[in-house]
Amino acid sequence: MTPTDDAPATGLPMTVPAPGLPARVRIHEVGPRDGLQNEARTVPTEVKAEFIRKLAAAGLPVIEATSFVHPKWVPQLADAEQLFPMLDGLDAERLPVLVPNEKGLARALALGARRIAVFGSATESFARANLNRTVDEALAMFEPVVRRARDEGLHVRGYLSMCFGDPWEGPVPLAQVVRVCRALLDLGCDELSLGDTIGVATPGHVRGLLTALNDAGVPTSHLGVHFHDTYGQALANTLAALQHGVTTVDASAGGLGGCPYAKSATGNLATEDLVWMLHGLGIETGVDLARLTAASVWLAGVLGRPSPSRTVLAQMNQARPHKE
Ligand code: HMG
Ligand code: MG
Repeated sequence: MTPTDDAPATGLPMTVPAPGLPARVRIHEVGPRDGLQNEARTVPTEVKAEFIRKLAAAGLPVIEATSFVHPKWVPQLADAEQLFPMLDGLDAERLPVLVPNEKGLARALALGARRIAVFGSATESFARANLNRTVDEALAMFEPVVRRARDEGLHVRGYLSMCFGDPWEGPVPLAQVVRVCRALLDLGCDELSLGDTIGVATPGHVRGLLTALNDAGVPTSHLGVHFHDTYGQALANTLAALQHGVTTVDASAGGLGGCPYAKSATGNLATEDLVWMLHGLGIETGVDLARLTAASVWLAGVLGRPSPSRTVLAQMNQARPHKE
């Protein structure tokens, strides 16, 4: 293994490719949705819009903007109607939004959304807590949503939460996860995102699930991964997924995140930490790490607490003048 570049002193990793990895990864940024849905204090709409603009300017190709859910269930995102039109300088194809049901889809379509995500659960406990439905009732709720969205030419993502462990039910059997994944694809979802909602997965488990899905006829090209970082495993899990051929990875700028209906969920894999690893491996993302870090530092200033991202922290320390 020979380094192909000198390590610059500007806060970029040295590039050392490794075999068996994709040439390019599409980062699906979830900070404005998954991150800000979990803030104790609701973030002002103008701040959300500015954050999304900064993320777009940093080159993130897809930025999950908000959710059209019941405002009482997620009050932090109750301003979706105000926020989405403020982003009209950005291509709506870059701005997916979460919709749980036909009402949510109607709200999103009225504002010109072009990319949506429905969000199911592999476990009954979380389906009940998050959607007030059983797993199969939630699938039935999504059916007309996916059908209409596809008729309107929208791209549809299907999230599946609790793919590895569940705070109420413990470890989740692979067959249970595979069944709901298959059902989401059969509804017509264009891609699936496998959620480790509470961040308990480890790399062998990730490999095992991806293999089980392939064995059930689900191609890896339809799969993305969504790791929360509760146990510090998100980056290792991501590498395992990349080695399996996954090329869509969810991450949250500055490591923001969690889920209001799963208490043990912490932030997602930080986008900066992901970008540092990918660029170090010579994998293209189109993201400008310095601009991305600046966006997270700016938001951390607004939120009044430091980002938990190790890369953000390291870059900030590097930027400080050395004391003699
Ligand atoms: P429900 O109480 O069963 O709703 O909630 P309902 O269908 O019985 O309707 C009750 C009332 O809500 C009605 O109004 C509806 O019109 C209204 P009323 O007739 O009583 O005046 N309503 C709505 N209003 C606005 N927008 C809507 C909407 N739908 C119904 N879309 C519901 C069911 C699905 C609405 C609720 O459970 C909900 O909003 N849940 C969202 C929870 C959520 O957003 N969780 C976080 C996202 S998931 C996540 O973070 C995990 C992920 O990151 C992956 C991972 O990490 O694993 C994606
Ligand atoms: Mg999540």
